[in-house]
Amino acid sequence: LHVAVLMGGWANERPVSLMSGKGVADALESKGHRVTRIDMDREVAARIAEAKPDVVFNALHGVPGEDGTVQGMLDLMGVPYTHSGLATSVIAIDKELTKQALVPKGIPMPGGRIVKSSELYEGDPLPRPYVLKPVNEGSSVGVAIVTDESNYGNPISPEAKGPWQDFESLLAEPFIRGRELTSAVIDGEDGPHALAVTELKVKSGFYDFENKYTDGKTEHICPADLPENIEKLCLEYAVRAHKVLGCKGTSRTDFRWDDERGEEGLFVLETNTQPGMTPLSLVPEQARYAGMEYADLVETIITAALR
Ligand code: DAL
Ligand code: MG
Repeated sequence: LHVAVLMGGWANERPVSLMSGKGVADALESKGHRVTRIDMDREVAARIAEAKPDVVFNALHGVPGEDGTVQGMLDLMGVPYTHSGLATSVIAIDKELTKQALVPKGIPMPGGRIVKSSELYEGDPLPRPYVLKPVNEGSSVGVAIVTDESNYGNPISPEAKGPWQDFESLLAEPFIRGRELTSAVIDGEDGPHALAVTELKVKSGFYDFENKYTDGKTEHICPADLPENIEKLCLEYAVRAHKVLGCKGTSRTDFRWDDERGEEGLFVLETNTQPGMTPLSLVPEQARYAGMEYADLVETIITAALR
């Protein structure tokens, strides 16, 4: 096959996407495919039209590669592409819209509300501790945890220079103490199935950008050491979220589990439609655990795109 691997772009997650794209392109070449590497810019449509690939592997993360924009462009061009389509991408990139889709289908997610970042200095939107996050970023870009210890002042001080300052509106959610879990779903011949549950144990702080992409800063435990009912629920919610949102190829659903509250303490945070494919990323790791090497995972995602 001739595969165009779309990567880079101008999102905050550009460096992550370049790592994902390199991994994918190298793997495809190792399998004998012809690869055109495209670092996305405003000329991307013309460059894809010129390359005339059989399929696009979308290794972009964030906006506009994961939010439906690139998907709509490829739909118009009539070029098959990996991962989820336009409508799914529009909903899943937005953590608030994702709640509106998943919670009525029986998937527990934390409550919360949208706040203007300028309002934060007037008082807390929720009781502390709470999490502030942009609705449509990935890799924990822009995420802050506001704690009882008033780490940013109480009320938040305008001098505190939190990551929220780059975003006009934010999602405020109660912080869920306990454990960080994730589960990947792959579309096989027989439909979607969850691969495993991984627990992420950070050495310090929370599972933020630095802890995600610096080797050795986070321990990945795959499969996670969990009570059977919690593991089962994670796998079930990951598949259900994939189906409800209409994800394609692969997705990865992230969780927090308050282990003092049993099943009641398990919450989905979000579903990622373009999960990372870097050497430290979780979908490749779970695939390997399930017996699928990285290059086979890439081919499986392409097969789903061409089905
Ligand atoms: N947003 C990053 C790439 C992930 O979900 O893995
Ligand atoms: Mg994400």
